[in-house]
Amino acid sequence: MAQDHAAPATRGAAIAPVAGPPGIDVQINGEYFRHTGDPEMPLLWYLRDVLRLDGTKYGGEHGEGGADLVLVNGKATSAIGVPMSKLAGKQVTTVEGLADAKGVLHPLQQAFIDEDAIGCGYCTPGWLIASMDLLNRRKDPSDSDIDTLPNLCRCGCQTRVRSAIKRAAASMKQGAQA
Ligand code: FES
Repeated sequence: MAQDHAAPATRGAAIAPVAGPPGIDVQINGEYFRHTGDPEMPLLWYLRDVLRLDGTKYGGEHGEGGADLVLVNGKATSAIGVPMSKLAGKQVTTVEGLADAKGVLHPLQQAFIDEDAIGCGYCTPGWLIASMDLLNRRKDPSDSDIDTLPNLCRCGCQTRVRSAIKRAAASMKQGAQA
């Protein structure tokens, strides 16, 4: 199997990838990586099996339930549905990239904890990513906005997830005004 190289790179969008073997350069959680394996490898397997970022979950071959969502250039995207060949030059954010560099949780993550919106946790990364996308588009999401998210929770946390998203929206609004 071809080797995948994690370019010795660095957090920060301004830093260009270093020279190396040909491949697909992609920025993941602020660091550059070069994928030199099968270009049709789904992003989900690159994240989980190559980079060992296993927060993003497998929900089915069509991304059922949204457990495999990541942000690609800020938009929630099924990681099982997108091959590495489509990601050259793109910015990917996984659940591992939501906290800041010092490990301070994103307001959304904190809100999920505060609202006890996590059962077994399998669906949680996908909810967080879908909610990020939603809050980027709607600062004050309604119940029906939240209900458009594709995510499912088999533990029955939907009501608490809804509260968590609203709590995060309020906290982010407050943060923006501070
Ligand atoms: S917390 Fe278990 S599936 Fe959602």
